Amino acid sequence: MDRITICRPDDWHLHLRDGAMLEAVAPESARHFGRAIIMPNLVPPVVTGMQAVAYRDRILAALPDGSRFEPLMTLYLTEDTDPADVTRAHADGSIAAVKLYPAGATTNSASGVRDFDRVRPVLEAMAEAGVPLCVHGEVVDADIDIFDREAVFIDRVLDPLRRATPGLRVVMEHITTRQGVDYARDGGPDLGATITTHHLVINRNAILAGGIKPHYYCLPVAKREEHRLALRAAATSGAASFFLGTDSAPHTDPLKEQACGCAGCFTATNTLSILAEVFEQEAALDRLEAFASRNGPAFYRLPVNDDTVTLEKGAPVAYPAKIETGEGPVTVFDPMMPLHWRVG
Ligand code: DOR
Ligand code: ZN
Repeated sequence: MDRITICRPDDWHLHLRDGAMLEAVAPESARHFGRAIIMPNLVPPVVTGMQAVAYRDRILAALPDGSRFEPLMTLYLTEDTDPADVTRAHADGSIAAVKLYPAGATTNSASGVRDFDRVRPVLEAMAEAGVPLCVHGEVVDADIDIFDREAVFIDRVLDPLRRATPGLRVVMEHITTRQGVDYARDGGPDLGATITTHHLVINRNAILAGGIKPHYYCLPVAKREEHRLALRAAATSGAASFFLGTDSAPHTDPLKEQACGCAGCFTATNTLSILAEVFEQEAALDRLEAFASRNGPAFYRLPVNDDTVTLEKGAPVAYPAKIETGEGPVTVFDPMMPLHWRVG
């Protein structure tokens, strides 16, 4: 097979930032994707329905003329979030979901949740109204090894939270472990999980072996090879629980390449070529559409996109090593393998 046509994919987890960075990266996602769930971790975060609408307008203004890309907005859950604002914003189409960051877990997460009892009324209102909760699933306790943060979160936080809030629809964002795969697979129709492009390609050696490689550092951090293989099996299985969320997260090179570098891999530019390569390696090209284009809308109860993209296999695809932004250069994720699938 050297040519496949699939329904236009969506990205169910994306960082577009704001200002000059937004201007530069929005066209990169809009080129191939129909829609994206937009992360709210701006500075300051997007916490109200009105702020989400204003941010959506800034995204739409940053798109190339004629683009049909649709940003699906999220609110950043804080201990002060008003349940009525969430349900109103969801009912009127201003937001598609709410994002839970445990305080301190990642980039701009300081306003996140410390005491889960304080967000109980919001979660109950969301369960009632069917508003999905997107979860950054890592504990932040200093005594928990960073490579165990996801598995411990599932046991200590996520499972109790789901049991205490029946009917709450949850997306485990960017799962990185076998434990995450297993929990999502067994979680029933109210539980989904996104998988990033880069976690299908790299394990922790990419960051640490042969010199430290800041452009492979993201959160949750890439784990051992056995976990990457579990993620690849899940993504290429076609199972409804798993869908693409790139977590494409631009930071300028100076912010990545320093003594305390930022977390994030920027994959918007070459994600579809990488995914086609991965799915071909797993002899699963026929399931790429399920992962990238069908399972996500099914979970979010949205129609599949009404147009298609065609991928063609040929000579290695050229893509820029960096994109220029008004804030400085951003390195494009290097999958460390030639890519042969060009998006038509
Ligand atoms: O690598 C990451 N980058 N993980 C996150 O959770 C946040 C993101 C960002 O905003 O840079
Ligand atoms: Zn993210």
